[in-house]
Amino acid sequence: MATLTQQPTSAETSNSSGMRWLPVAVLGASALTLAVPLAAWSGATAELLLGDVGPLVRWGMIVVGVLHDAAAAVTVGLLVVGGFLVPEGRHSDRRESAARAAALTAIVWALAAAVKLVFSFAEGSGQALSTPGFIDNFFVNVLGIDLFRYQLIEVILVIAVVLMAGSVRTRNGLAWAGALAVGALMPVAYTGHSGDAEGHETAVTALGLHLLGVTLWAGGLIALLMLRPQLGKALKITVERYSTMALWCFIAVGFSGVLFALQSADDWSDLNSSYWLLIFAKTALMAVLGWFGWTQRRRIIDRGVDKPGAFARLATSEIVVMGAAMGVAVTLSRTPPPLLDESGLSDPAFALTGFRSPPPLEASSWLSVWELNWLFLLTALFAMGLYLAGVIKMRRRGDRWSASATILWMIGWLIFIYITNGAPGVYGRVLFSMHMVMHMALMMAVPIFLVLGTPITLALRTLPKRKDKTLGAREVLLAVVHSRYAAFIANPVVAGVLFFGSLVGFYWSGALELALRTHTGHILMTFHFLLVGYTFVWSLIGTDPGPAKWPAPLRLIVLLATLAAHAFFGLALMQGTWLLAPEFFKTIDIVWVDDLLVDQQLGGTIAWGIGELPTMVLALLVTKDWLASDEREAKRTDRQADRDDDAELAAYNEQLKRMSS
Ligand code: HEM
Repeated sequence: MATLTQQPTSAETSNSSGMRWLPVAVLGASALTLAVPLAAWSGATAELLLGDVGPLVRWGMIVVGVLHDAAAAVTVGLLVVGGFLVPEGRHSDRRESAARAAALTAIVWALAAAVKLVFSFAEGSGQALSTPGFIDNFFVNVLGIDLFRYQLIEVILVIAVVLMAGSVRTRNGLAWAGALAVGALMPVAYTGHSGDAEGHETAVTALGLHLLGVTLWAGGLIALLMLRPQLGKALKITVERYSTMALWCFIAVGFSGVLFALQSADDWSDLNSSYWLLIFAKTALMAVLGWFGWTQRRRIIDRGVDKPGAFARLATSEIVVMGAAMGVAVTLSRTPPPLLDESGLSDPAFALTGFRSPPPLEASSWLSVWELNWLFLLTALFAMGLYLAGVIKMRRRGDRWSASATILWMIGWLIFIYITNGAPGVYGRVLFSMHMVMHMALMMAVPIFLVLGTPITLALRTLPKRKDKTLGAREVLLAVVHSRYAAFIANPVVAGVLFFGSLVGFYWSGALELALRTHTGHILMTFHFLLVGYTFVWSLIGTDPGPAKWPAPLRLIVLLATLAAHAFFGLALMQGTWLLAPEFFKTIDIVWVDDLLVDQQLGGTIAWGIGELPTMVLALLVTKDWLASDEREAKRTDRQADRDDDAELAAYNEQLKRMSS
């Protein structure tokens, strides 16, 4: 039996082709072993009094749910381990076999997702599969409901993963297939119990993070075991890299699981429900998995001691527990959560935005009104934490890092937290003027602070370099900043057009309403405008590594042109006489807003007003850069003149003499 570092014998490699699917079978079997009896106990498969669609669908949802989650995990695991963790080596078939296996599990994932969609439709329509006209009804109505639309998007994305995993063979190809597979998981986050309950956004964020953590963690471990016979000496470094990823997954799964669970409890009595007992069971399994992770680190990685098969044995036992947790999870997702107090959720704002109407806007509201948006909050905290870790690493090795850059980065993210979780974010959902405050701060104020924090320089100076041609964080970052895509969008003119074009495109198309009504729209709007703002500011004043900078005078011209266009945008709103997203604002009918058009015109003033200050700062910084580059040029010319006895002046005078003679 091969140990952690010994080469697998040819006999082992050949008979592992069948055996290599054993870990997948272990995960599936362990999950089903727990899911089926638990589902009978928790009521997940109980016959419905009204609109019951039969045992095939009720029990099918459990079995297909396990197949779905297991196949998704293994697909993501194989593509991510193959694309990012496994060293390049003589055995290029490592990547090949990871891709081929991932294509197979992705087929299972796609089929399971499609069956889940049909079963959900049966449940949603209260029609058993055998009902005459079921198929017609399915095709006519499947796009009409959010839940089914998300499930259909998942099926389409997973089919794309099948095609990609089946065709790519390069490291980058596998990495992109891995990214697509992770993307295909996200629609699932909208299909959990969070549905249309209060805290919907928190639940979707939590489930998204949960699924990402679980699939990388469980799928990554299974991929390691499946590829082990081909890894030979590379197994140790691959296990070390996986272990770092697994630690982050452990934290993400625990945190997101608890965050989701807390959306499903109103008071202590709810903790006695079968839903919560399943959650406690998962928490216990999580603790056991924590022990496994710790043991792997201590016994297998740190000591490097390896009795024959020690890693494989420990990992296989860990997969049994992961399977069990997955089985409990599938049952949990089918078990009715405790009924929450939904009184007061009848106001139109909740129906349209998923949030209750905020109290009337007063001066104190700017500091007192908050609604945590976990996705944006976690993004900011993660960005601040990573940056601080980089600064500490620099300091520890005796390198200096600018304190002002650190402070600016932190201020940038604190502003981001305030505008997405505080009053601008809360009122920006129902009030056009406050939406504009949030929007302008996101696009103009936050990026200036973040760009001056020079995060890419810090990252490239602190992230470890991979020496085996694999894609670590540093390699991915370098590939992005030096890509043709970055060179194109960081061109000041392109960045300026994107900056202004996005504004006009967003407000004068249906995108505004989509961002106000849907969670996805809100997320896409926020990150799009943050990135567009960041790219524009970076193209003007960024000092981080990246595409060549335009001469300062040209940058100033681009800035002034964009400023003029932006002022025009503000003016158009200030003088506009027709309402943007009229249906939305009229339907939510916020009682304390007297005149919607006046509020919109105020939004125009804000767009113009808030836009001025950051633009002024940008203009000053570009001018400062201009002066500095002139100074640098003057010094360079002086040094040159010192070195070559001012040959340039002599040549110039010579030319003047020739012209005058
Ligand atoms: C502290 C530990 C954990 C807690 C509190 C927790 C909690 C939850 C909650 C509340 C859900 C949503 C269920 C619903 O839709 O109502 C969920 C889903 C899920 N959990 Fe966990 N979880 C934990 C650990 C784990 C672990 C260790 C795994 C597997 C290794 C796991 C796998 C999953 C999966 C696959 C789903 C999605 C189920 C589906 O929709 O098919 N969880 N979890």
